Amino acid sequence: MTTMTAPQPPIFDKGLANTVAAETQMSFIDGGKGVLEYVGIDIDTLARNSNFEETVYLLWNTRLPTRVELDGLRRALQAEYEIPDAIYDMIKSFPKDAVPMHALRTLVSALALHDADATSSDTSAAGIEKAKRQALRLVAKTPTLIANFDRHRSGKPFVRPNKDFDIATNFLWMLNGEKPTDAMTKGLDVCLILHADHGLNASTFAGRVTIATLSDMYSAMTTAVGTLKGPLHGGANEEVMYMLNEIGSIDNVEPFIKGKLERKELIMGFGHRVYKAYDPRATYLKTFAKQIATDTGNLKLFEMSQKIEGIVLAAKADKGIFPNVDFYSATTYHCLGIKTDLFTCMFALSRMSGWTGHCIEQLKDNRLIRPQAMYTGPHGAAYTPIAQR
Ligand code: SDX
Repeated sequence: MTTMTAPQPPIFDKGLANTVAAETQMSFIDGGKGVLEYVGIDIDTLARNSNFEETVYLLWNTRLPTRVELDGLRRALQAEYEIPDAIYDMIKSFPKDAVPMHALRTLVSALALHDADATSSDTSAAGIEKAKRQALRLVAKTPTLIANFDRHRSGKPFVRPNKDFDIATNFLWMLNGEKPTDAMTKGLDVCLILHADHGLNASTFAGRVTIATLSDMYSAMTTAVGTLKGPLHGGANEEVMYMLNEIGSIDNVEPFIKGKLERKELIMGFGHRVYKAYDPRATYLKTFAKQIATDTGNLKLFEMSQKIEGIVLAAKADKGIFPNVDFYSATTYHCLGIKTDLFTCMFALSRMSGWTGHCIEQLKDNRLIRPQAMYTGPHGAAYTPIAQR
């Protein structure tokens, strides 16, 4: 006879800051020391030596691939770059001023209509394989969705994916209609490595909640994209760029930032729920941003960013507020020629790999995720007929 364990008294943990809601083997974060590892490998080492496809393999399989395995994943992704004609037609129907993250959320959801695997998930071995097939298609197709939405809204013809290119090259090829330089491809590839996974952040948690009901992977990714959009989360990179544009010059940095601090306004690109030290992704991106800003004649942006950092650190470092991944990724994406309102889509392009990896982990050891709410309303209230209200 199974003994019922006495229900534990509920713990109210607002924002779940101190709650462990899942186990993962993909990314480890030490917020106090500013450490991020993917399957135990330091993020800085990966950024310097790996590539996005290899990182996807690492996250999904919790080990680095052999050359044959990596080539196999590349080919499988390339075979799935293309999207159905019906999706191109759908993109044509979008308003040209549509918010890119609204477009992406809608298109990710619409892809489910064209995937026979997009049925309810299940935790069997066959169910896990079905989830992996959907994960591959989502990672492979997201760049095509984003680039061709931008082509549409810019009044340019669609550019079909090139199955000979890797993901970073293919995205820039479709976005700009020309093959990118090796430096541009490398720059984007590094950004994709750095953004691929990050523990149980809000959008990853949202995706896990969805798949834990045994809904399909496309539904879970629609949840994740919608969650990432918020300016407190993935939307911050766009806000950083808007702030840099609003500041306009190095001389205006100090009065602008000090004014925001005095008004207790948030400085986008700073602070983090977990990091109370420098976000290691920001450490790498800062070096990278300086190089790419120098190479592309945007050094003013980097110098403004550096000055902002100095002022905010002087005012807030004692509160554990440091630059996060979004602060220098803004300058980097701008220097790569990516429009500001596509920055969060770039975040989603990369994080699609971590999100789907977490959903597969959830299915491998699933339990419906259903926390409690603290009821603070009345009891025993009378029902007053409307005629007497
Ligand atoms: C991402 O979780 C992840 O891993 C996310 C992410 C990922 O890879 O998935 O790392 C990506 O989302 C990075 C974060 C991007 N967001 C921003 O840059 C937006 C600005 N940051 C803040 O909104 C804030 O730092 C959060 C939301 C990121 C974290 O906030 P918390 O943990 O809820 O902390 P809090 O809001 O309670 O702040 C504690 C104190 C407050 O001051 P007091 O009320 O105690 O006086 O710090 C202050 C806050 O006002 N503070 C800031 C600040 N962030 C926190 N003050 C000024 N500027 C900021 N950016």
